[in-house]
Amino acid sequence: MPDPTRVAVLISGRGSNMRALIEEADGYDVVLVASNKPQAPGLDWARGRGLPTWTWDSKGVSREAFDQSLDMALEDHRVGTIALAGYMRLLSPAFIAKWRGRIVNIHPSLLPDYRGLDTHARILAAGERMTGCTVHVVTEELDAGRILASAQVPVEPGDTPASLEERVLAAEHRLYPTTLSRFVMAQAK
Ligand code: GRF
Repeated sequence: MPDPTRVAVLISGRGSNMRALIEEADGYDVVLVASNKPQAPGLDWARGRGLPTWTWDSKGVSREAFDQSLDMALEDHRVGTIALAGYMRLLSPAFIAKWRGRIVNIHPSLLPDYRGLDTHARILAAGERMTGCTVHVVTEELDAGRILASAQVPVEPGDTPASLEERVLAAEHRLYPTTLSRFVMAQAK
């Protein structure tokens, strides 16, 4: 039986949520940080903490081949739960089927509203007064799996996509670690 407390964090860039998940880990251990971008700044941070990392540049690699290789790395590290944190590559259906119910993601909107990319710009363009972030289970349909938790964040007058992103990110960093702890605990029962 895979151990749900053994978590891999998948990133493609900055990795601020990855960092929150590692620094606030409670009831789970981040045993691997994996990235489809070898230059992702988050990888350097993880290496600096002495954490195992895995990376392969996914550019030009088929989704199936990439995900098979990723899957091998996850199995090598006996991972039980996968946390996506700014992982910008769609996972193949076979990968999602194999890991069904064990992959979670954080999205910068109050799902089911504003799935997909450029959420902050779209929220401002729509004149929303409230936004937030959501942690959900990953399924084949983008940003549409079971919602585990969400946090509201107000839109302030004069906000730009960057200022809104900063406010929402702060909420993400609070929401994701606590939600992952609860999720892992429920899986471990
Ligand atoms: C976050 O806004 C997250 O919600 C979205 O991608 C961004 C990743 O940022 N999925 P970071 O790499 O965690 O700093």
